[in-house]
Amino acid sequence: MVQHCNGRFTAYDLPPPSYDPLLTQVDKGTPAGELLRRYWHPVLKASDLDAEPRPVRALGEDLVLFRSGEGEIGAFHARCAHRGADLRFGRVEPRGLRCCYHGWLFDARGRCLEQPCEPDGGRLRDRVRQPSYPARELYGLVFIYMGPLDQMPALPRYDVLETLAPNQEIRADDTSIGSGGPAIMPCNWFQAFENVMDPYHVFVLHSTFSTVQFSELLAVRPDISFAKTPGGVASTQVRRMRNGEDFVRVVEVLLPTVRISPHPAFTTPGPCTNISWYLPIDSTHTRIFTALRVPKWMPKFNFSEIPVYEGKSWFDMTEEERRRSPGDFEAQVGQGPITFHSEENLATSDAGVALLRRLYLADVQRVRDGVAPTNVRLDEGPAHAVAAGHTFHPSAETARTQAP
Ligand code: FES
Ligand SMILES: [Fe+2]
Repeated sequence: MVQHCNGRFTAYDLPPPSYDPLLTQVDKGTPAGELLRRYWHPVLKASDLDAEPRPVRALGEDLVLFRSGEGEIGAFHARCAHRGADLRFGRVEPRGLRCCYHGWLFDARGRCLEQPCEPDGGRLRDRVRQPSYPARELYGLVFIYMGPLDQMPALPRYDVLETLAPNQEIRADDTSIGSGGPAIMPCNWFQAFENVMDPYHVFVLHSTFSTVQFSELLAVRPDISFAKTPGGVASTQVRRMRNGEDFVRVVEVLLPTVRISPHPAFTTPGPCTNISWYLPIDSTHTRIFTALRVPKWMPKFNFSEIPVYEGKSWFDMTEEERRRSPGDFEAQVGQGPITFHSEENLATSDAGVALLRRLYLADVQRVRDGVAPTNVRLDEGPAHAVAAGHTFHPSAETARTQAP
């Protein structure tokens, strides 16, 4: 924290900036990278797996995903196990993925099936394995697990995505839903993620500093409390409406990367029906994947393209309009590729951010100590019961004055 209690401080006196590597690392072998490798991460929409191999970057590793003709999903290291050609230039075939360079064919589990330039199609081909990761499909997304196999957890489920009415469906989104911006955010994942436990910014950034980007209801300064939950942190935001009702908005995060936040443009009462996962692409790039339960009749539209400025989406705004009415992208990417923790001055309104950081760092330490971190279950337990959502009810004050 920077101290400048006398009037003689200038920016020249700043020490060299730094960030906390334990909050921001993602690479294999680093303490935080090893924590992140104890969880399933979505890396692609399932509908994007078609006839072509799909390049994907996750936790600093370049991968290629494909669906074989037999329907199995392969998640390969991008470098071919033969001599390193990039498998994104390969070809998906009924039995697997064929490398463009010398034609080696690998099935979805990485077993080498053919080596066309070798005698007898490769007498030693069984000894070769293309490095790969387990992959599963759920909620229209493809999840992969990049950690040690003997620690592989069950793929978590969420009650709001499990119980669908006949007229509802789940849609997958990979556009980093927020107030608009490119799907890939050029900044560290943690500074984007901790924003979920920074609900004060909704009142300022989205509602009163910029134009109202989501809902007028959010332009009221809320009373906010934060609480540690079994799986992470929850914030409860209470806004007194003009009619005397309290509008209560609850947002959850589940460690390490899950956001459960009712879309702020839709302030209808009810539980949150979307779950988001923050994918650390590498230490300076982030993508948010979301699965949404929606009525089937809802037209298919891109949530990152909702109007946030005079009827325009982020993509239609000019640079000057984005400067005058900034949103999540400007605020979070504007903190830099990796924000400098050494230059922060945390205040009381950062209590949720501070709590989230503490819990995340405790999990980093748990993995270092050989202990399972939060939300890792090896067996499939019950689906997570979502607590996030919007409710409206008479305020305690109103109830008192209306009492007979
Ligand atoms: S580098 Fe892939 S087959 Fe040779
Ligand atoms: Fe926001």
